[in-house]
Amino acid sequence: MKRSILIAPIACALMAVLALPAATLAAQQGAATITIFGGSRGEVPFPHAQHQTRLKDCNICHGVFPQEADAIRKMKENGALKSKQVMNLQCIKCHKADKQAGKPHGPVTCNTCHLR
Ligand code: HEC
Ligand code: HEC
Ligand code: HEC
Repeated sequence: MKRSILIAPIACALMAVLALPAATLAAQQGAATITIFGGSRGEVPFPHAQHQTRLKDCNICHGVFPQEADAIRKMKENGALKSKQVMNLQCIKCHKADKQAGKPHGPVTCNTCHLR
């Protein structure tokens, strides 16, 4: 196959991305800090941008819930996610594994995540 056939669509795609206004890109990334609904235990302030930068792969989290505000609460309400499923199998699981490996890690105790 000729190289130019491959390069043309890639170049077009690249130009389309570069032409997007910065605001659109920011919206696609989501908010830098998100307040996650934490039920009776209180809200969970979540440094979203910090996790994006460090973890790189969006699907570590968004493989389980979509890139939408309040997605976790909505999925819990319609039974698509169990209560505390994200908390235990994503947030705390990763933080504990990093802690055990002696690496910098996120919080593992209730009060360092929940506001009450
Ligand atoms: C460590 C987990 C994690 C990773 C990694 C992650 N996100 Fe999120 N993201 C969340 C959580 C939690 C929410 C909020 C869900 C809720 O409130 O129920 C969210 C919400 C969003 C939203 C909704 C808009 C908003 O501001 O609320 C967008 C868009 C989004 N993420 C995009 C991304 C993209 C793009 C990446 C990869 C570059 C990414 N996320 C990586 C956890 C993550
Ligand atoms: C790493 C942060 C983190 C830690 C540590 C943490 N939580 Fe959570 N918790 C969350 C998040 C995020 C949610 C919302 C997502 C979910 O339900 O999985 C949540 C949800 C909850 C809910 C609400 C469930 C619902 O659906 O109404 C309760 C109750 C709760 N946590 C209790 C606790 C208790 C008790 C501890 C300590 C043993 C704890 N959490 C530790 C992040 C955390
Ligand atoms: C795959 C790993 C991973 C997942 C999943 C993950 N985190 Fe973290 N988290 C980290 C790492 C790494 C740090 C940074 C530790 C450091 O550098 O101090 C961190 C830090 C944090 C901090 C502390 C930030 C600060 O500035 O002190 C909070 C709060 C936090 N995470 C909440 C959450 C919540 C809530 C979830 C689930 C929605 C989550 N994390 C999911 C790896 C993860």
